Amino acid sequence: MSLTQTAIDTLARNDRGGFTIPTAGLYPYQWNWDSAFIALGIATYDMDRAWTEIMSLLEGQWPDGMIPSIIFRSDDPSYFPGPSRWGKTLGPIPSTGVSQPPVLTTVVRQLTDAGGTRNAARRHEVFDRLFAFHKWFHDARTSNGIVATVHPWETGRDNCPDWNIGLDLMDVAADLAPYTRMDNKHVNPQYRPSQEQYDKYLTIVQFGDSVGWDQRRLTDEGPFLMADPNIHFILLRADKDLLAIARDLGKPVETLTQIEAWIAKGEAATDYLWSEALGAFTAREIRTGAFSTGFTNCSALCFYADSGTAEQRARVLDNLNRIAAKVDFMLPSWDPDAEGFEAQRYWCGPVWPQMNYMTSLGLAEQGHDALAMKIRDDLCRAIERSGFWECFNPLTGEGCVGSNFSWTAAVWLSWQHETKLEGVA
Ligand code: DGY
Repeated sequence: MSLTQTAIDTLARNDRGGFTIPTAGLYPYQWNWDSAFIALGIATYDMDRAWTEIMSLLEGQWPDGMIPSIIFRSDDPSYFPGPSRWGKTLGPIPSTGVSQPPVLTTVVRQLTDAGGTRNAARRHEVFDRLFAFHKWFHDARTSNGIVATVHPWETGRDNCPDWNIGLDLMDVAADLAPYTRMDNKHVNPQYRPSQEQYDKYLTIVQFGDSVGWDQRRLTDEGPFLMADPNIHFILLRADKDLLAIARDLGKPVETLTQIEAWIAKGEAATDYLWSEALGAFTAREIRTGAFSTGFTNCSALCFYADSGTAEQRARVLDNLNRIAAKVDFMLPSWDPDAEGFEAQRYWCGPVWPQMNYMTSLGLAEQGHDALAMKIRDDLCRAIERSGFWECFNPLTGEGCVGSNFSWTAAVWLSWQHETKLEGVA
């Protein structure tokens, strides 16, 4: 069977009726940015079902605009922390109390860019909800003028060494309620975050619950506060895509002015994330101003967001070339020259499909075709070698953590569609 057919079958197997889980067992619910990438993949063969994926994700949006990282439509004992541990969250469906990188608007634009009345109607249908989601990041999740993150899970890059400087500043809650991890029962514990990291993740959840998931309080008073290049660049691009959609829909001038202000704020924050020492955009602890110390697989998303100066971009390219000489499969999630690199442990080294997708797209859009193709081809080689895994060892291409993984299938389909498949109506 062709890999393209296997990818379609993988997405069908993970379909739970209107929404798609990342993979059975390890992640049995709907995840926010997973669903956005999944929609891109499904759109290559079934546009209506792709749109349903978007609409089902929006069903979980909170009244304040936040779209949570996970929507719990059931209570599945195979996953922890599930709905009872997150407590009384504020959305229409039980959910987590933090968000995830807001790739959604960019995907909506991609899906509806062909024009025509159907696509205009779809844009119209979701515009206010997308606007509210962006407003939530710019209001409730902003600290000192910078869009922040309050939990490593919100960044999508759970245990990347980037977060150590923030986690080191916090203590595990003395009254942390006991719990049993489930992730380590599905996959090799050596590939997953450490116990101490988990205790701190759960400490932040306990704090959020203790303030009734008041997002302003969670941002201002919570135990963890960092700036993340992943959320930053994805939001900045998404703001630009939101502006394009707003113009296309003929939205009022106040709406356009508001989005333009968010974009100006984002461009200024790009500089905030620039580490001159590293020659790269890196995570930063907001209370102390400390920079992280390694180049990650979101450090080159400046191209995807079309942000940063020519000098900054040149140094980012130097870093990409340095790392390409060290690994067989681009792009590792943590710097192979930095302390803490582990080729198989979750966000400490492995290659992530959705990150290669965005990085490659950004590089291609900005004219760096050779690097863009390398980042794309390396992931395709890893998939051809190992199958549709959650992530891959950058030294060997071996699959890591979850198998039969939806976003890996989706990224594959999206790239195959660009190059080989017939267009979708
Ligand atoms: C997990 O459970 O590992 C997820 O990444 C949290 O969103």
